[in-house]
Amino acid sequence: VSVPSVGIIGTGRIGAILLRAAMRHAPDVPLLLAGRNEAAVAALAAEIPALKRLPAEALAAQADLVLLAVPPDAYCRLAKDLAPHLRSDTVLVSLTNGIALADLGACVSCPVVKVIPTMAQTVGRGVSLVSAGPRAKPRHVERVRSFFGRISRPLLIDDGDSRAASNVAGSSLAIVAAFCRAFVRENAKKAVALDEAALTAAMAETLGALCALVEDGRSFEEIVEATATPGGVTAAALEVLARWPMTDMVEATFARQAAMVQQAGRTR
Ligand SMILES: NC(=O)c1ccc[n+]([C@@H]2O[C@H](COP(=O)([O-])OP(=O)(O)OC[C@H]3O[C@@H](n4cnc5c(N)ncnc54)[C@H](OP(=O)(O)O)[C@@H]3O)[C@@H](O)[C@H]2O)c1
Repeated sequence: VSVPSVGIIGTGRIGAILLRAAMRHAPDVPLLLAGRNEAAVAALAAEIPALKRLPAEALAAQADLVLLAVPPDAYCRLAKDLAPHLRSDTVLVSLTNGIALADLGACVSCPVVKVIPTMAQTVGRGVSLVSAGPRAKPRHVERVRSFFGRISRPLLIDDGDSRAASNVAGSSLAIVAAFCRAFVRENAKKAVALDEAALTAAMAETLGALCALVEDGRSFEEIVEATATPGGVTAAALEVLARWPMTDMVEATFARQAAMVQQAGRTR
């Protein structure tokens, strides 16, 4: 049985992440790349010798999965250009929550599936969120899930849960990293002999340990309670953290996504 080929259009952050992830963790998957940025295409081709470079239309005609790694407001225009070249059984894969699946589906006649990947795929980890779009039959979703299963832990979700799930599985990578950076920097200001690099390494070890504890069955709550002695110093920090406007943060993501979807829909 031949391995379905994966074609990526776009050479920015997520396009490069997925190509590198496939090269490292799924080397038998045929990879195709198209991009308007010739220099970026050439650089990726030099890094990944097995990569086949071709124009977007030819990629659309050849690849079994066509992944759009471009900004959401470029989706409809690109999908319409590719539509005559996509085979009826090709799966067009949206990588963004910034366009409604129905709007993208209206631009093509092939099945559409959404996957929200993350940078964690570079190390073969992290959740990738998979949801069925227009015309996607179980076999199409399975083809997509099967590829992403090589480079991540795919989670099948209803598209209605895409923002909440993306916050927890994707955005959190940046949010937790930003928290860690700020926490380390603030402590580095107080440190006597330790520098920021040493504190960063300690922070990373703690993150790894947190992950291992959760995988071992401890809840976040249990870890908080076991670590913060009532009236102690950690408890003092947690009192400040409790004032964190978490609701505002989550609401901001939903509001931003709604605005992006509306904007991308207007490009149809
Ligand atoms: N970054 C992530 O971790 C992440 C995670 C999940 C999903 N996504 C989604 O992935 C998509 C790409 O994000 P990114 O972070 O990779 O963006 P990026 O780094 O800005 O890369 C965007 C790519 O799209 C190309 N492009 C821009 N406008 C285009 C157009 N009108 N027609 C054709 N190509 C165009 C760019 O080419 P040039 O180099 O010529 O500008 C570049 O190759 C977005 O829809 C985003 O929502 C990203």
